[in-house]
Amino acid sequence: MSLATGAEVIVENVSKSFGRISALREVSLRAGPGEAVSIAGRSGSGKTTLLALIGGLEQPDAGQIMIDGRAIWKEPRPAQARREVVGFVFQRHLLLGALSARANVEVPLIGAGVHRSERRRRALSLLEEVGLAGRADHLPSELSGGESQRVAVARALANEPRLLLADEPTGALDSKTSERVLDLLFRLRDQLGMTLVVVSYDTAVSARADCTITLTDGTIDSANVMLSRQ
Ligand SMILES: Nc1ncnc2c1ncn2[C@@H]1O[C@H](COP(=O)(O)OP(=O)(O)O)[C@@H](O)[C@H]1O
Ligand SMILES: [Mg+2]
Repeated sequence: MSLATGAEVIVENVSKSFGRISALREVSLRAGPGEAVSIAGRSGSGKTTLLALIGGLEQPDAGQIMIDGRAIWKEPRPAQARREVVGFVFQRHLLLGALSARANVEVPLIGAGVHRSERRRRALSLLEEVGLAGRADHLPSELSGGESQRVAVARALANEPRLLLADEPTGALDSKTSERVLDLLFRLRDQLGMTLVVVSYDTAVSARADCTITLTDGTIDSANVMLSRQ
């Protein structure tokens, strides 16, 4: 286990449009190392766009996004900078169809140069943590939506990221499985100090988060920022 602490996330007055659609307007938020922030809001309110911006997958039109004081999208090698810090659980799981569940979880470890036997060990242990020990050799086409989602969570955690960005990670799960996935995320947060930014409608997520923000048509009403642990 690495001893790295969580990353600090600072989003300041960020705006982002897609053509004429204004997806985010002057959004600001902060997550300190090891903090868990949940982001709520209706469909189309800008939640996925905000996660993509925090992870440096999109560039802001205006404003600043700093992860430990660095803007990932401005780095000379953004993909590498991202891989060193961020784990993503995408809303659409984006598993590689030709690879088994275990091999999908191993993908980020290959990029990080982890030896094959250690990759295998970590992937199997994470699949076990998300309740999929018996599905390690299955292809994505042989998995249910909820199972795919759990593989995606295991993959995002494989590198013990200092910042986990998760887009509705419990959206396709029943309440018991969802509890199990949240237990894992929050346990790793407690053990590794990982920072969590989780998009979710799930009240079980906001109940555990240090802070919940709600996006409404691309903006955060500051009156809407709820601190649950203060
Ligand atoms: N790549 C894109 N191209 C055009 N419009 C987009 C793109 N991504 C998001 N949008 C638009 O931006 C708005 C916010 O989308 P999104 O961030 O996905 O919302 P949410 O995740 O809250 O449902 C929506 O109106 C959506 O249609
Ligand atoms: Mg979304």
